[in-house]
Amino acid sequence: MHFTKPSILALSLLTSASAAQESPLEQAKVQAQFWFDKLSSYIPSPNKPHTPAAAAAKAGGKTLNVLTLSDWEQTIRSSVTPQTATPVEWWVMVTGGNSSCYGHCTIAETAFNQTAALWSVNPNSPNLAYLDCDNQPVLCNSWGAGPPSLWIMDVPAPGKPVDIRIKALNSTTTTVKTFTDLYASKDWKSKPVYEGYFHPFDGVLAQSGLAVPLGYIFWVFAVVPSWMFMLGISFLSRTIMSSRTSGPNARRAGAPPAAAPAARVGAPPGDARFY
Ligand SMILES: *[C@@H]1O[C@H](CO)[C@@H](O)[C@H](O)[C@H]1NC(C)=O
Ligand SMILES: *[C@@H]1O[C@H](CO)[C@@H](O)[C@H](O)[C@H]1NC(C)=O
Ligand SMILES: *[C@@H]1O[C@H](CO)[C@@H](O)[C@H](O)[C@H]1NC(C)=O
Repeated sequence: MHFTKPSILALSLLTSASAAQESPLEQAKVQAQFWFDKLSSYIPSPNKPHTPAAAAAKAGGKTLNVLTLSDWEQTIRSSVTPQTATPVEWWVMVTGGNSSCYGHCTIAETAFNQTAALWSVNPNSPNLAYLDCDNQPVLCNSWGAGPPSLWIMDVPAPGKPVDIRIKALNSTTTTVKTFTDLYASKDWKSKPVYEGYFHPFDGVLAQSGLAVPLGYIFWVFAVVPSWMFMLGISFLSRTIMSSRTSGPNARRAGAPPAAAPAARVGAPPGDARFY
């Protein structure tokens, strides 16, 4: 008989779970982990490096920085030192392709790229960065960023708050002139500073380390079809219900009372009754 790797894993997980006579919660956890691993192999990468584009991003003297989940903070923070007196300006173009911007970002993105090329020889121009929400869905989620938009950041010396102003871009009328006019007039400076929970540097979520995990959660909800969740919930609740009904005596005799409510995790009240 030929076993594929996952089926061996499944067998060993299931047999070890039943052999060890673990609590229903433990069994459910093992099974949930198994299904999570199985599902993870189907879902796309949350953090594509897009290297060829990054190489192409070097336009003349000044680089258009392509942000990724792993290096965005380092990229932006590395422009300042503790001695930095005036904040360094960063313009981050939040864009996307067919899945995050429904294909409507091309005009604004092209205008931004042309602006970057234009400014590449101007040492006074802002630092420019590019964030593609198709390639970086988790990063976009962790910022609560929606394309097409321009995030203008005043990055001061480390330890001080970063002022961020967000300008939504019109997906049909944005041109190079939009960006050069904005730069000349500096009229974003009169806009209120962004103070949301999702502020990438100073928000409650970033400070507590929750922004990236939340970004992953939103991303999983977005990419995993809802029928898979239904399947998972139905599977879990069946498992829990069947081990509850099959072993009521064991539960009454030994199980600590605190375990009972915990076992309901994932199963809405009454959920399993209908199957
Ligand atoms: C804009 O530049 C980025 C980074 O180089 C690149 O990945 C992207 O394809 C460019 N977009 C357009 C529309 O030219
Ligand atoms: C985006 O969608 C358009 C129209 O459906 C298609 O022509 C294009 O190839 C798609 N682009 C990508 C990168 O998938
Ligand atoms: C973009 O600009 C056009 C022309 O000014 C306008 O008709 C359209 O409503 C704008 N779109 C958005 C999303 O503001």
